[in-house]
Amino acid sequence: MAHTPTPLQPLRRLQAERGGPLIWVKRDDMTGSILSGNKVRKLEFIAAKAKSGGFTALITCGGIQSNHCRATAFVAAQLGLKCHLILRGEPADKSMAEGNLLLNRLSGCSISFHSTAEYNAHLPDLFAAAESRLQDQGFPALKIPTGGSNGDGIWGYIAASEELCSDFRHHHIQPRSLVVATGSGGTQAGLIAGMSHFVPQLSVYGVNVCDDAAYFHHKIEKDFDEWHNQYRDHAKQLDSSNVLTEKINIIEGYVGDGYGLVSHDVLKMMQKLSRLEGVVFDPVYTGKAFHGLLAEIDKGRFKDERDLVFVHTGGLFGLFPYVDQLATIV
Ligand SMILES: Cc1ncc(COP(=O)(O)O)c(C=O)c1O
Repeated sequence: MAHTPTPLQPLRRLQAERGGPLIWVKRDDMTGSILSGNKVRKLEFIAAKAKSGGFTALITCGGIQSNHCRATAFVAAQLGLKCHLILRGEPADKSMAEGNLLLNRLSGCSISFHSTAEYNAHLPDLFAAAESRLQDQGFPALKIPTGGSNGDGIWGYIAASEELCSDFRHHHIQPRSLVVATGSGGTQAGLIAGMSHFVPQLSVYGVNVCDDAAYFHHKIEKDFDEWHNQYRDHAKQLDSSNVLTEKINIIEGYVGDGYGLVSHDVLKMMQKLSRLEGVVFDPVYTGKAFHGLLAEIDKGRFKDERDLVFVHTGGLFGLFPYVDQLATIV
């Protein structure tokens, strides 16, 4: 379902202007038009599980502008499955929708909206209610956790690591560091597992866009445990001595005022990259993470490295709800 391999593109004009390492962007914003971004790589494996397990519906959850929810809704539509989304938040105007929410409506999935308090306190009950409603209608449903980050979703970025390994060979580069936005942990988990197998000299860094480093250490460890339990033999081949958890590197300090809240500096950087390189980031994930990467380069973290990799995980539809803030800079 993902259009792969995606390009690996060097930001040469940015390097000419700033100096420092050459940043290569893995364009996973180009995994598709509607299924664009990192989520479809995980969902390919999750949807395969749904199909082989006889499920005819998918249920998942996320913020009101969740890229994962939009991707799940369209994976379902493309496979002829039913879909229900449990969304945190309410649209400001019930008759209108924008960005990912507009696309969700177009996909025909059913949606329930919940206040943050209700969502946080009762998520398992909300899943159970949706599951039983779909079951009563004759559609057994697979429940997919936030961001598709679980023992199945990990495979998406293990496969992407193999693809990156061949990109590096093609471009004759041997990067030692890769940076990605971390929101629910599954992309980073897959990259850690995949890279330690395919490109062992490379370290994976996640810039968290919500919560903190301790939270993501715990969350990624939990995903690894689930993966080990579900795929014992395969997981052992990739992580024979159970060392992956020691390779979890979180760069914190770039959440700003909170998840989904974007600063003027991040917006200015997004504008600059749009103009200088024709690469557009989103304000919630990739913009914040790339801003963090540049700040860390300025602090000297990657000073001896020639080539660095940034995974552009998509999220472009999430730009549209920020029209008012963006109007102040464009
Ligand atoms: C555009 C985008 N980038 C990055 C992420 C983070 O990926 P993960 O949830 O696997 O940590 C997400 C989702 O959370 C996303 O939608």
